[in-house]
Amino acid sequence: MATARSGFSSRLGFVAAAAGSAVGLGNIWKFPYETADNGGGAFLFVYIICIFLIGFPVMVGEIAMGRKTGANPFGAYKQLGGKSWSWVGLLGVICGLMILSFYNVVAGWSFGYFLQISFGDLLAQEDHGAFFGTYAADIGDNFLFSLAFMLLTGFVVLRGIQKGIESASKILMPMLFAILIALIIYALTLPGAGEGVAYYLTPDFSKLNLGVLNSAMGQAFFSLSLGMGALITYGSYISKSDNITTSATIVTLADTSVAFLSGLLMLPLVFSAGLETEGGPGLVFTILPGIFQGMGAIAGRIVGGTFFLLLCVAALTSTISLLEVPVAYLVDERKWPRRKAVITMAAVIFLLGLPSMVSFGAVDWLSNLTYGGESGKSFLDLVADTFSEVGLPLGGMLMSIFIGVRWKTNNLSDEIAIGNPKYKGSWLETAINVMITYVCPVVLALIFVSNLLQKFAGVSIL
Ligand code: TRP
Repeated sequence: MATARSGFSSRLGFVAAAAGSAVGLGNIWKFPYETADNGGGAFLFVYIICIFLIGFPVMVGEIAMGRKTGANPFGAYKQLGGKSWSWVGLLGVICGLMILSFYNVVAGWSFGYFLQISFGDLLAQEDHGAFFGTYAADIGDNFLFSLAFMLLTGFVVLRGIQKGIESASKILMPMLFAILIALIIYALTLPGAGEGVAYYLTPDFSKLNLGVLNSAMGQAFFSLSLGMGALITYGSYISKSDNITTSATIVTLADTSVAFLSGLLMLPLVFSAGLETEGGPGLVFTILPGIFQGMGAIAGRIVGGTFFLLLCVAALTSTISLLEVPVAYLVDERKWPRRKAVITMAAVIFLLGLPSMVSFGAVDWLSNLTYGGESGKSFLDLVADTFSEVGLPLGGMLMSIFIGVRWKTNNLSDEIAIGNPKYKGSWLETAINVMITYVCPVVLALIFVSNLLQKFAGVSIL
């Protein structure tokens, strides 16, 4: 496949690729520590509400905009809303670039951990927290592995939609699912695990506040790959006979179940290891090696190595979707050859990621930023707070407003109905339209403003 606009070979191809985009480090690396840091069950509860009430309609909207226009986010907004709306799409492209810049760094850690567990002496370490600290601060490995990861991402994107993205997603995602379940069963037998399960599954509603809602919504958007047009782009490759609402349902359920399962794996481990629940971004890298260690030298290497390898695959199907967005933009709008677009973007994004890479101890001042009334933040935190926590809800809000007031929900319904003849007049249509027109813009505006104030001015409005 050489051109930008050929599509997925089948509905399964799209679902696998979109689920591949959704399931990634967000589920396994980020979700458990967000849950641990935000009160356990209370966070899980709010998260699931955010996913289904806000995330799902936004996902349907994105896919429909993509399929209707057959374009990248910039082109999609331009076609449907004219020049004055196209900047919203461009904003999405920029968010995608910046998210990939730090995401690739974490993907590099995962790749390094795969090698260290399988072939190195990581499992012989006494203190995995200290090991991770040293590891993240070491530029050598990180530079090499995140470069390797970006090259791999570029390679797959260069091969194009069908050969590259689809085939990577179809086989490996189910394997990840299986190994997660096996690890959960093992983890639940460890002493103290029950406490973690209770913390995770019993919502303590006294812990609910706007901060929890902010984090849950940010996490929902990040995890479902929403708010910057990744699914507009993927939607542009699907056929008119596809049923958008069914596909979106499958993707949402797959993503939510992987997140749920990684919480069910990680929180019992945290409690069983007797650690406090404030895990932060190092959580999977400090907690998981302990369980692999307990399996014995050989089994630990095999199971641990496989787990981190699958984590890399999950990350790869996500980095692919992030890189595809600016590439599609350059190919469609600027008429760049695909190869030039891929190589340039991969290089630019890798460079943009360098400050994030060195912000875990390698470069002091980048590792110790103070903003929004908090000190000790990394540059990676800064980029994630700006483009993911604040940028994605903003993008989702603008898209809902766009569909409600400019494109109009009857056009949205028309597009969805093409592959789903029973859609019009269904309760689902009513629900999606009400959410997109009234609820999403208001809730997402609230999240956007309060996240902005909380992250950058240190002000909590509730
Ligand atoms: N959803 C992915 C994850 O959970 C990350 C991701 C891929 C993403 N594409 C995206 C996040 C687009 C936001 C927007 O790991």
